[in-house]
Amino acid sequence: MIDQEVGKTRSTTYEINPVIVNRWSPRSFVNDEISDKELFSLFEAARWAPSSSNSQPWRFIYAKRNSKNWNDLFNLLIDFNKQWCSDASALVVIVSRKNFENNGKPSITHQFDTGAAWENLAIQAVSQGLITHAMAGFDYEKARKDLAVPDDYEVVAMIAIGKRGPKEKLSPELQAREIPNTRKPLSEIVMDGKFGSKAELP
Ligand SMILES: Cc1cc2nc3c(=O)[nH]c(=O)nc-3n(C[C@H](O)[C@H](O)[C@H](O)COP(=O)(O)O)c2cc1C
Repeated sequence: MIDQEVGKTRSTTYEINPVIVNRWSPRSFVNDEISDKELFSLFEAARWAPSSSNSQPWRFIYAKRNSKNWNDLFNLLIDFNKQWCSDASALVVIVSRKNFENNGKPSITHQFDTGAAWENLAIQAVSQGLITHAMAGFDYEKARKDLAVPDDYEVVAMIAIGKRGPKEKLSPELQAREIPNTRKPLSEIVMDGKFGSKAELP
């Protein structure tokens, strides 16, 4: 079922698995720890994403709150993201292998593959009662250096993971944004046979 809160702003043109619509990116987290079992179930979900030649280019570098590595990841974030990530239970830097392990040739789709893994993780989080929030707002070069990411891997994104907190914890500006957003209509994103050729919606 689509969550009551989500249903206030989100609706689908066709019936789909509600977990997809129920995934959104809140910023208010409960200042709480996550168990390894909960966290590794998310990585397990990511692991089953499809990829070009089953190359599985995704890699996840995580730090749990109150762990020795937390500050290394937290300090990569821009100030805007730091203000709401401080209560997250885990931060993850996602990196992606740019070439195939078996022949060293560049993979055109490695980011696409790694994106699929992130979405699996995010969907699994919903079914575990957790929230996730992806971020590009961090220092990519510092991440490469501080986390010792090898040259043949690209730093792709970060994610905050945790339990949802009350929106009142956020600044007034962020409280106003703590609402599930909407999407472009299908008529704008689906084309019939050629770019720009509008699809007839069934
Ligand atoms: C790759 C990526 C980077 C993002 N970077 C940030 C970020 O730095 N800070 C932030 O607050 N939200 C960030 N977002 C969250 C998006 O704004 C959000 O996913 C988008 O508005 C769709 O909303 P939803 O995730 O709630 O469905 C990012 C999302 C993605 C996928």
